[in-house]
Amino acid sequence: MDRPLPNRVVRVPAGRPGAACVYPASALCDTERAPPALTGAGRVWFNGAALFLSTGGPVHVARRPMIAGNWKMNKGTAREASELAGAVAGLAADFTADVDVVVCPPYPALHATAEALQGSAVALGAQDCYWKSAGAYTGQVSPEMLVDSGVTYVVLGHSERRGRFGVPEPDFTEGVLKHFGETDHTVNLKATAAIAAGLKPIICVGETLAEREADQTDGIVAAQVEGALDGISAGSMASVVFAYEPVWAIGTGRTCSPDEADRVCGVIRKAIEDQYNDDIAGSVRILYGGSMKPDNAADLLVQPHIDGGLIGGASLKPADFAGIFGAAAAAQAAGAQAGAAVE
Ligand code: PGA
Repeated sequence: MDRPLPNRVVRVPAGRPGAACVYPASALCDTERAPPALTGAGRVWFNGAALFLSTGGPVHVARRPMIAGNWKMNKGTAREASELAGAVAGLAADFTADVDVVVCPPYPALHATAEALQGSAVALGAQDCYWKSAGAYTGQVSPEMLVDSGVTYVVLGHSERRGRFGVPEPDFTEGVLKHFGETDHTVNLKATAAIAAGLKPIICVGETLAEREADQTDGIVAAQVEGALDGISAGSMASVVFAYEPVWAIGTGRTCSPDEADRVCGVIRKAIEDQYNDDIAGSVRILYGGSMKPDNAADLLVQPHIDGGLIGGASLKPADFAGIFGAAAAAQAAGAQAGAAVE
């Protein structure tokens, strides 16, 4: 293997001695750009498409870090978007070998952003999609339209769309909130349609402050994961990314502590395992989102269950966003060294 040992590891379960176990590479990490990093006992090899394990575990498989910028309703003119995307592309060039960097502008700026990203490995994302391909759905945008616009990832079920605001605006009354009324069911419909169209959904889950204070965090988050994945096949899970976004931490400047964020990301992983199996749970990338900034990113990104970040405010400032994907690359490298020392 030509890549260093990873810091984010998946223990492929032991107890499969003898016959080779074959793992589709796409289920383990984004291998379109780089083969996964491996270590562990047993003979492991990568044939360009799949990982082969000859003797059973433990084998450690990298989850490639991802830093995605959710611009929300900002930088949506062609000029603003190409300026920001161009700056991000320039700053990301040294990091995209190790980190997936994604920017998610408002719909009207997708084309300008795609153009500004040409020649760069920064990927384009959208902030939502509808679950139908076409039809009389005023104001909606289909997954197929996004694919045609050069989009690879789509954020789904963001708390601001679920009507679960971190910082309620004075004009967001009950009636207005309903217009944003994303539910686990609509997230599921959208994720299913997005995957069918070839998009990779970034599915957001997270509890409100009231739910946290009532000790409901784990149950709420697990139910959101389960609802979002209803009917999604194991084979489709290779393209799914989750984001744990505690609602009370979004745009508020309050960050979840790294230990607690990691613990809840572990709850998400367990919910995926319960629905599928531990191989799939170990391969899905889980991001943390909620006031991640250059100065707190490193502590969050070294956590074993946290594979990256979904960044709002800080993604609008190229230097801050770069500080975060730089921290992701550093966390990856530090983990690689730790892995090498263990070996
Ligand atoms: P924030 O937003 O980084 O501004 O807190 C995160 C998000 O909503 O994805």
